[in-house]
Amino acid sequence: MSSPIQIALITGANTGVGEAVARSLALKHEYHVIIGSRNLAAGTAVTSSLQERGLRASAIHLDLADEASIQAAARTIETDFGRFDVLVNSAAVFLELDPRNAGLTLRQRFEQTFVPNLFGQADITEAVLPLLRKASVPRIVFVSSRLGSLANALDPKAAFYENDFRPYNCSKASLNVLAINYARMLDNVGGLVNVVCPGLVKTRLSNYAEAGHSPEVGAERIVQMATLGKEGPTRTFSDRSGLILW
Ligand SMILES: NC(=O)c1ccc[n+]([C@@H]2O[C@H](COP(=O)([O-])OP(=O)(O)OC[C@H]3O[C@@H](n4cnc5c(N)ncnc54)[C@H](OP(=O)(O)O)[C@@H]3O)[C@@H](O)[C@H]2O)c1
Repeated sequence: MSSPIQIALITGANTGVGEAVARSLALKHEYHVIIGSRNLAAGTAVTSSLQERGLRASAIHLDLADEASIQAAARTIETDFGRFDVLVNSAAVFLELDPRNAGLTLRQRFEQTFVPNLFGQADITEAVLPLLRKASVPRIVFVSSRLGSLANALDPKAAFYENDFRPYNCSKASLNVLAINYARMLDNVGGLVNVVCPGLVKTRLSNYAEAGHSPEVGAERIVQMATLGKEGPTRTFSDRSGLILW
């Protein structure tokens, strides 16, 4: 008997790293990808371009700042599929890199960062957990950053050591702890929960950093962790070069 089609929900999949992860999972791994995006038209455009190539994809509205949107997305996935296999939490903001946020207070920057980067990710993970538990090997990949590593924050030689990215860095450090909690919660069903840093990637979030890799390269490690088999690792934090110290 052939195994069922693998289904993956990717948040922030209308652009950047999330889009590249979705394209790779659909094209190279023949997954059905659910394109999560707060701008449904942008998500539908990605879905259509995949479907035109004969690949499996559908779009879902998912605004991580809106609890109702998150709950509705989980209900739609339940109705349409009844289960799924992989959650890739890629959506995030990095307000410090966008000069339009220069006038925000520190508290505003913390709030506006933590809502999508942590609270929304916790909400969507929680909402789909019962569906993930039905998978033969439930997988979650939290897309974090080396900037969320405590070891990195303690290292004066680390890149960006002098930069004041407190809200973003704290949101990613918190996300890492959230991931470890979900790893514990999925142990009893053989779940694999891992954290990945895509490295510096040329996307809108990094202001299309000159030195950044392409989104496809940024997606590589995430896709590896999203497609693990049942003997795969859990509770790891890594990038394409290997493990990152927490
Ligand atoms: N780029 C880098 O150099 C780099 C380095 C390390 C880690 N990362 C991490 O990689 C992940 C992907 O980032 P990226 O570089 O691909 O950035 P990106 O191109 O700016 O994409 C970010 C995605 O997050 C979505 N998003 C933001 N707020 C949202 C909300 N409230 N609800 C739903 N979606 C929301 C955006 O939607 P809209 O299009 O509607 O805004 C977009 O789809 C992030 O977790 C980021 O922290 C990136």
